[in-house]
Amino acid sequence: MSNKAILEINGQKHEFPTVTGSENEVAIDITSLRAVTNGVTTIDPGFKNTGSCVSEITFLDGEKGILRYRGYSIEDLAEKADFLEVAYLLIFGELPTKEALGKFHADIKSESVVDDDIRKIIDAFPKSAHPMGVLSSLTSALTAFNPSSVNVDSQEDMYKSVVRILGKFPVLVAWAMRKKQGLPLDYGDNTLGYVENVLKMMFKQPNEDYVQNKIIVNALNKLLILHADHEQNCSTSTVRIVGSSHAGLFASISAGISALWGPLHGGANQAVLEMLEAIKADGGDTKKYMAKAKDKSDPFRLMGFGHRVYKNFDPRAKIIKVTADEVLNDLGIEDPILDIAKGLEKEALTDAYFVDRKLYPNVDFYSGIIYRAMGIPVEMFTVMFALGRLPGWIGQWREMRLRKEPIGRPRQIYTGSTQRSFESVAK
Ligand code: CMC
Repeated sequence: MSNKAILEINGQKHEFPTVTGSENEVAIDITSLRAVTNGVTTIDPGFKNTGSCVSEITFLDGEKGILRYRGYSIEDLAEKADFLEVAYLLIFGELPTKEALGKFHADIKSESVVDDDIRKIIDAFPKSAHPMGVLSSLTSALTAFNPSSVNVDSQEDMYKSVVRILGKFPVLVAWAMRKKQGLPLDYGDNTLGYVENVLKMMFKQPNEDYVQNKIIVNALNKLLILHADHEQNCSTSTVRIVGSSHAGLFASISAGISALWGPLHGGANQAVLEMLEAIKADGGDTKKYMAKAKDKSDPFRLMGFGHRVYKNFDPRAKIIKVTADEVLNDLGIEDPILDIAKGLEKEALTDAYFVDRKLYPNVDFYSGIIYRAMGIPVEMFTVMFALGRLPGWIGQWREMRLRKEPIGRPRQIYTGSTQRSFESVAK
């Protein structure tokens, strides 16, 4: 592949260098474009063709259905790793030694108490509030309770802020759910593993002990790993761009949570389950909903299908589908929703509309079925996605700050009125 690209505009040729990644992805470096063309810019709504950064964290090949964190395949990590190990890998670049992992976990535990005054903020929310809104607000509020800004040039400062958010975030996740259910807000149990602690904080009833279920612990560990990073998706790009103004880590993550909430992004897991429920309530006629999804005059989309980058199976969806089967089987749950999901998938994979557009099940298609089997309420599904995505957001924010990336500030092409003079309303 040539290492330069030539652009001809206004009768002049300009040469631009290319950048090649470690997996041979090629990008045209247009950082000098405006200067050499006297102000010409590019336009690419939705950034479908635009790379916003170079990154060493996650590689994905959407055509081949490959996803790797720091070079390790998602299949390997989901099968063999522990969520905290993966978090460490994503944030710091290498898998931890046993000692480093032990210290990392101990440091996270030492940060797992949130200021008790945060309860007052939670109390001000109505019970009907969506937990993603509550989580985003509380994460932002953490800044007020931990005001010292991170000195990114200090490894110690950076590490401290990383373990702080990893320690406090699961508490907020659990509180967002318990508030809705009218349960007392409690702290976790520092004798437990990270995932076990999350489950206990979420599900412990005030009048009984919480008994861990290995099947549920393993399934949640796997789901969190599968969601942990996905390069420059909408919420991660949000975290990087907010952080690029030198806003703090918690404020940047709070913005990422809001971006994740939308049904075209992380909110799809809730939307999928609601869609499957609606199909079931409507008699289970999957063909009717396939037709709706293909009808351009109908806004309905088959939620959990399609992806900006994957034009092949989402490798995470493959793992989650098998896990859904295993978890339901192991827990002895029969869920007709799973059959409806499998039916829809089968139809879509042979339907010309979906085949032509390369629309395959994505990570959100089967995950809700597992969350439901675990007893997690539908409105909490996207919150669970956020819990998994947290290390990715942190790692990407840290990488952006350490590289001293410039403030994110896209250009536009103005198509509004040209200059006109103001007339006072009295006239
Ligand atoms: N159902 C029906 N048609 C679809 C769907 C769908 N789920 N997804 C895409 N299409 C059609 C779309 O109408 C368009 O058709 P045409 O070429 O005739 O205009 C074509 O496929 C390309 O779609 P697009 O919207 O231009 O593609 P995009 O890359 O901008 O959007 C997407 C990707 C994920 C937003 C979209 O596929 C979608 O809305 N899917 C449903 C929501 C969903 O499952 N989101 C979770 C994404 S994975 C996890 C995550 O990112 O958080």
